[in-house]
Amino acid sequence: MQDLLKSFGLREVNSGAAVGGSDGWIETGGTPLTSYSPIDGRPIAQVAQCTADDYQQVMEAAQRAFERWRMMPAPKRGQVVRAMGDRLRQFKDPLGMLVTWEMGKIKAEGAGEVQEMIDMADFAVGLSRQLYGLTMASERPRHRMYEQWHPLGPVGIVTAFNFPVAVWAWNAMVAAVCGDVCIWKPSSKTPLTAIAVHHIIAPVVDQYDLKGVFNLVIGQGGHVGELLINDRRVPLISATGSCAMGRRVGVAVAQRYGRSLLELGGNNAIIICEDADLRLAVRAVTFGALGTAGQRCTTTRRIIIHNRIKQAFLDALIKAYAQVTIGDPRLDGVLMGPLVDENAVQAMMAAMETGRSQGGRLLHGGQRIKGIEGGYYLEPAIMEVADGCPVVQSETFAPLLYIMGFDTLDQALAINNNVPQGLSSSVFTNDIRNMEAFLSHGGSDCGIANVNIGTSGAEIGGAFGGEKQTGGGREAGSDAWKAYMRRQTCTINWGGEMPLAQGIKFDL
Ligand code: UN1
Repeated sequence: MQDLLKSFGLREVNSGAAVGGSDGWIETGGTPLTSYSPIDGRPIAQVAQCTADDYQQVMEAAQRAFERWRMMPAPKRGQVVRAMGDRLRQFKDPLGMLVTWEMGKIKAEGAGEVQEMIDMADFAVGLSRQLYGLTMASERPRHRMYEQWHPLGPVGIVTAFNFPVAVWAWNAMVAAVCGDVCIWKPSSKTPLTAIAVHHIIAPVVDQYDLKGVFNLVIGQGGHVGELLINDRRVPLISATGSCAMGRRVGVAVAQRYGRSLLELGGNNAIIICEDADLRLAVRAVTFGALGTAGQRCTTTRRIIIHNRIKQAFLDALIKAYAQVTIGDPRLDGVLMGPLVDENAVQAMMAAMETGRSQGGRLLHGGQRIKGIEGGYYLEPAIMEVADGCPVVQSETFAPLLYIMGFDTLDQALAINNNVPQGLSSSVFTNDIRNMEAFLSHGGSDCGIANVNIGTSGAEIGGAFGGEKQTGGGREAGSDAWKAYMRRQTCTINWGGEMPLAQGIKFDL
């Protein structure tokens, strides 16, 4: 595995501050941060954290770079993003493996995450020619009115450990074609993958002379994170993480009239109707609930199932769970790796305990397992709870699935919506009425609503994000790019008169 580090230019101690390019690493004297692998709890390498001085240096470089970058035609910026996508293609498997090593997700998911970065690059290249504004009909004669979109400035990108590289790409690729520069603060649990990404794109930064366009600051949220979110020079903060973290970011950014794009916790449910294809539902629930060891914001956390099919479904689900191989995520055939750290294991144990004390019945799993010595392995758990059980209201970032019954679809929809979060949701049905009710204005209140598909594994082409405590932000595809630009409405009088809007006469 040490060769893997070397192949990315990673050393035993790495700089945690960079302005991009092969010589853009700042010699930082910050306290070292050790990255540990969840696979065996062993240290991988260290990062010297970004100090306040380093941060200032990065921000100044970012501001300078913005002046130039914003004037480059967007399709030319698209060429840069295309070159970055090509670099990522070359490193798909090794970068995926580094994600697996540092974060613990299985090999296929690590590579899948890098594929998501590549897809984002492709999307952004096309987008670079489609930053369209509208033309409106002016109510005044010989006037033209239209809107145009300008780059916003330096964008702060705060990412979580669970998608340590893809979420940067959702933001950075779009921000780049929009003419923004970005400052990435990755999770302190996964700094090495972020450094590797910077090494991978360094030749592109060198080739196009783009120091300051793609920046990196690594350090604790309480230090570097606070500097970033309170910095008036950063008009947009895009942050992914827990609801508690998002509230802190949202308040700090609002206080300085900045914009925030928040992608926070989920509490995603799948409604399974009486007529559902159970074979499909079991597959979707298994992947949704224990894929990434339950550590996606889109992870399936709740099953809301028609009471008449509950037992049949549970029998099939428990059978499917029993077939899942848990262990070293680097090995073929393993479908679930470790949790990220001991705190995550403890959080799941505590949630199960609380659930039990509130009347929940553990139907399967939940035991700690050996896996690899030093790693954080446990069995995914299924717990039956009554509707209204308080523990179900909060997101436990682990493979703990709650199941509850319903008799009418209205009941199911009410349960679906009766949580503080609003990210993803699904219904399994073959009945067009159930489907349409779920998708109607009175249906799911989430940012994502799927039919006969699980809650996780969204494609990048759609706008990704959710409502309520999930934070309201939208990232990746569709018109999410608009959050990274400022809109300007322009009206031009090309006549010889000065008519006023609303028919007002104001003659001198
Ligand atoms: C996240 O967990 O923060 O939809 C993002 C999915 C992935 C992204 C998850 N494409 O599951």
